[in-house]
Amino acid sequence: MIADCIEMDRLSSEIEELGNISEYPLPAVTRVLFSDADLRARAWFKERCLSADLSLHEDAIGNLFATWLGQDPDLEPVATGSHLDAIPNAGKYDGVVGVLGGLEAIRALKASGYVPRRSIVLIMFTAEEPTRFGVGCLGSRMMSGVMPLARAELLQDENGLGLNHWRGRAGHVSEMSDVLLDRGAFSSFVELHIEQGPKLEERGIDIGVVEKIAAPAAFRFHLTGAGGHAGAVLMPDRHDALLAGAEIALAVEKAAITSGSADTVATTGVFEVKPGAINSIPFAVKMEVDLRDTDMAARERAEKMILTQSADICTRRGIECSLETINSDEPAVCDANLVSLVEAKSLELGFSTQRMISRAYHDSLFMARLSPITMIFIPCFKGYSHRPDEYSSPEAIRKGVAVLAETLKSLSL
Ligand code: GLV
Ligand code: MN
Ligand code: MN
Ligand code: MN
Repeated sequence: MIADCIEMDRLSSEIEELGNISEYPLPAVTRVLFSDADLRARAWFKERCLSADLSLHEDAIGNLFATWLGQDPDLEPVATGSHLDAIPNAGKYDGVVGVLGGLEAIRALKASGYVPRRSIVLIMFTAEEPTRFGVGCLGSRMMSGVMPLARAELLQDENGLGLNHWRGRAGHVSEMSDVLLDRGAFSSFVELHIEQGPKLEERGIDIGVVEKIAAPAAFRFHLTGAGGHAGAVLMPDRHDALLAGAEIALAVEKAAITSGSADTVATTGVFEVKPGAINSIPFAVKMEVDLRDTDMAARERAEKMILTQSADICTRRGIECSLETINSDEPAVCDANLVSLVEAKSLELGFSTQRMISRAYHDSLFMARLSPITMIFIPCFKGYSHRPDEYSSPEAIRKGVAVLAETLKSLSL
């Protein structure tokens, strides 16, 4: 049995070891794209892949492909994978379970004596998290052509350093065009991930089978008012950028609540104030807003509301507002055959399943442009994610890896 070949102790200690490769000490894991911690994590992971006899290829932005060559290498490979980067103050499992769990699935398949006909490729995507350049799923977004290369060349971090600077520093110097893959590059893509929500744990379900991934959008506001002395400028004469931003943040919340869809969620997760001095009126604000729904029409209604309200607020307060759309993505629908296959494999292993929607985005959202996809979700403690106490039990992970391994086997026969 493949499941018996899963070495959970090895996988658990690898998850622990990787958690220690962080810009901050455990339990707060932080690995921002191409930071020293990210580079160390990449080097560490490549060693693991080489020890498993996988051959490695990296594209121009550091997407890493670790391949187990099949008996018929001309067939399009089956792919799995996820990400190792982590937002500031994150946990040990987001993305990591899909990458190291994918590696363990391959090792277990090998140990069971299985030889695939199609190659199996384990992908570690670059920058699934929107940390350095503010846009999520950079690797898969570019791979699938959703972000054109010309636009990627313009990305800058907060210090004005671009993608070319950072990828060069990380040793990725090939032509950027090599990132782009054709539709059909993979025969299928299956991503293992923690649920990042509480449903599986609450209901005591082993495996979530993802049918659809919600459509995310993100916006950046730059608000410019007028600064001045906090003692000297009287209230009627003020153009306080923070107060306009505060009103906009409340309008963002209201837009989500009144969109007409219970699935609309909106978050103002970035709010930077200048000059940031107690005795100086805030003259500038940068805000970033994340807006999602599974239903595009509801998301668009909320977006319209946010735009109208923010314009009104800024006019009323005499604030200049510039608005940039960071991304506006469509939902992904998972492949019905893959969904059924994951369910069937879970059932054969004796695991309970539930079909679900992914409210978080994942590289699968963009891989859906290249091949049929689905995702395997496993329960995590109270649904916590993007925080240091994120946790999935070894038993939950083992089940996810077993389903992934069986699924990869079926797809590569
Ligand atoms: C992924 O990290 C997301 O924000 O959904
Ligand atoms: Mn995440
Ligand atoms: Mn993730
Ligand atoms: Mn993510």
